[in-house]
Amino acid sequence: MMETQLWHPVVAAQDLDRAPVAAALLETELALWRDSQGVVHAWADRCPHRGAKFSLGRVVEDRLECGYHGWQFATDGRCRFVPALPAFSPPASHCAQVYEAREAYGLIWVRLGQSASEIPVFAAESDARLRKVNCGPYLVQTSAPRLVENFLDMSHFGFVHEGWLGDRAHVAMQDYEVHKTTTGILATNCQAWQPKSNLHSATGSMVDYTYEVNAPYTCILTKAPDPSTLGAHIVDKSSFRESIALFVCPITPETSRVWIRMAMTDFESPDSALQNFQNTIFGQDQPVLESQSPKRLPLDLRAELHTVADKASSSYRRYLSEQGITFGVC
Ligand code: FES
Ligand SMILES: [Fe+2]
Repeated sequence: MMETQLWHPVVAAQDLDRAPVAAALLETELALWRDSQGVVHAWADRCPHRGAKFSLGRVVEDRLECGYHGWQFATDGRCRFVPALPAFSPPASHCAQVYEAREAYGLIWVRLGQSASEIPVFAAESDARLRKVNCGPYLVQTSAPRLVENFLDMSHFGFVHEGWLGDRAHVAMQDYEVHKTTTGILATNCQAWQPKSNLHSATGSMVDYTYEVNAPYTCILTKAPDPSTLGAHIVDKSSFRESIALFVCPITPETSRVWIRMAMTDFESPDSALQNFQNTIFGQDQPVLESQSPKRLPLDLRAELHTVADKASSSYRRYLSEQGITFGVC
């Protein structure tokens, strides 16, 4: 499936009020706005009259009014009013380019092309025992696949996240398994020594991870939470998992916007404390990510070196090839 046929996150839902907001996805400029019912609309950010940006306009009742000559467009994209010719009834061809838009996980998702694809599933979302917090967005000068691969990569923890997610004295990787799923790949039984895997960790511990790529630019990790953070309401502590999703918006082949949605057991800390922790971790990744050359992920496995420890990465690259992904890869 081509990347244009997939759903991608473009802005945080809380950052979109009624007034139009500019965003970008797959080198397409978008104007996002909400009608009086709060329904989100995503249009090409270009008025068909003279090409001005819709995002400079305003919302008037249930219409988007272009800022240049005040043409008004209804929610279906049809032009309904031309102020310079009040008696004129615009034909169907006077129409904005309209895309599909939906809200999920505190983000606005847009699909540019027609298909039967669904927004990637974040299973932890429906678990009321987990508290959800979004972190980001982070604007990163690299491709979406480089970001996903970094999220899947455990062997950098002891170097990039030394003292936080890893330790130089514990960087040898135990073997893990990679499986194919109907939507992507699943890496299980991933073990990492972590000095401070979350906000509350007082001492280091081995953490058991699973990673799932269930869409080309999405990765979800689950991990056993620190038992000391589990409240009495969690009955089955052994099977309980926290979950963190990486949602990437591919803006250009070498520029991406990233959100991290956390589903955590911690209901006490303020959002800002959880976000600051993630900001610190991501701030450690970002310079390395932006230093990688090429910025597009090479799908030819001969282009970079792969060891057995990197098999989640090499499986991810094979999966992107099989999916026919062309944006952000080389
Ligand atoms: S360019 Fe939009 S109304 Fe003229
Ligand atoms: Fe990292």
